[in-house]
Amino acid sequence: MTQAERLVPNPSVTDFAGFGLGLRPAHFHDVLHNSHPVDWFEVISENFFVAGGKPRYYLSQIRERYPVALHGVSLSIGTRDPLDLAYLGQLKALIDEVKPVIVSDHMCWTSGGGHNSHDLLPLPYTEEVVVHLIERINQVQDFLGRQIVLENVSAYVAFQQSELQEWEFLNAVANGSGCGLLLDVNNIYVNERNLGINASNFLNNIEGRHIQQIHVAGHSDYGSYVIDTHDAPIRPEVFELFRAAFERFGPINTMIERDDHIPEFAVLVDELNQLRSYAAPSLDAGDAGDAGQNREQLGGS
Ligand SMILES: [Fe+2]
Repeated sequence: MTQAERLVPNPSVTDFAGFGLGLRPAHFHDVLHNSHPVDWFEVISENFFVAGGKPRYYLSQIRERYPVALHGVSLSIGTRDPLDLAYLGQLKALIDEVKPVIVSDHMCWTSGGGHNSHDLLPLPYTEEVVVHLIERINQVQDFLGRQIVLENVSAYVAFQQSELQEWEFLNAVANGSGCGLLLDVNNIYVNERNLGINASNFLNNIEGRHIQQIHVAGHSDYGSYVIDTHDAPIRPEVFELFRAAFERFGPINTMIERDDHIPEFAVLVDELNQLRSYAAPSLDAGDAGDAGQNREQLGGS
């Protein structure tokens, strides 16, 4: 795949699909059998790697009715270990079956020396790591035959070796590889509280043309620090940050992540409607935002 081909976003994300939820097994029945205003669903890729069985059956049923995005947690794009071709083969098989609108993972490392930490570990923001990531992302995109989208992660410690701001690092990787960015506004907030980064500065400097998706989630606040738990309702400060991001970048497919203490489906639908109300002024104004304008320059609509 050439660099120019990679820069063309996934065809389906040039259109705004709307507001989605993470698909969780507890809600399979509600999703399929009850009417609701959820526009699309994101699934954790690895949970659907095994062919056959109930999860794949429900996923195929849901995919017939809604756009679906695949979100992985084990790509470990930043590790020094060789790419896991068996993993990529499973991901490619799932992509071929589901035909997702977005294929995403995280700008992090999860494994090293053959050991899997099962955590999304942050990387040092250095030029050397940027080069390493661009090379690895190119390999993954060539293997999968499509663009991947990578998410900014939450962190609790910062590397002394970092030379770049997080937004500079993300821009450099996206510009060099043609990958998209998944902007998690809760993670930006968590890093502001824990590491003292400036969230407004982040939003003002990240290049909107790379942003393919937005995540919003809840966290746990312990006063002097916060933890990215995804087990609670979205806090007002994160709603406000989402409002600022949506206003700046224009209509971008947005979803709520809830991974623990999962409530009734209707509770998440209510929260999604709350999220819509924060986006409404930008949608009513019909503002294409930075991301929309820049995607047009890249050949999208
Ligand atoms: Fe996220």
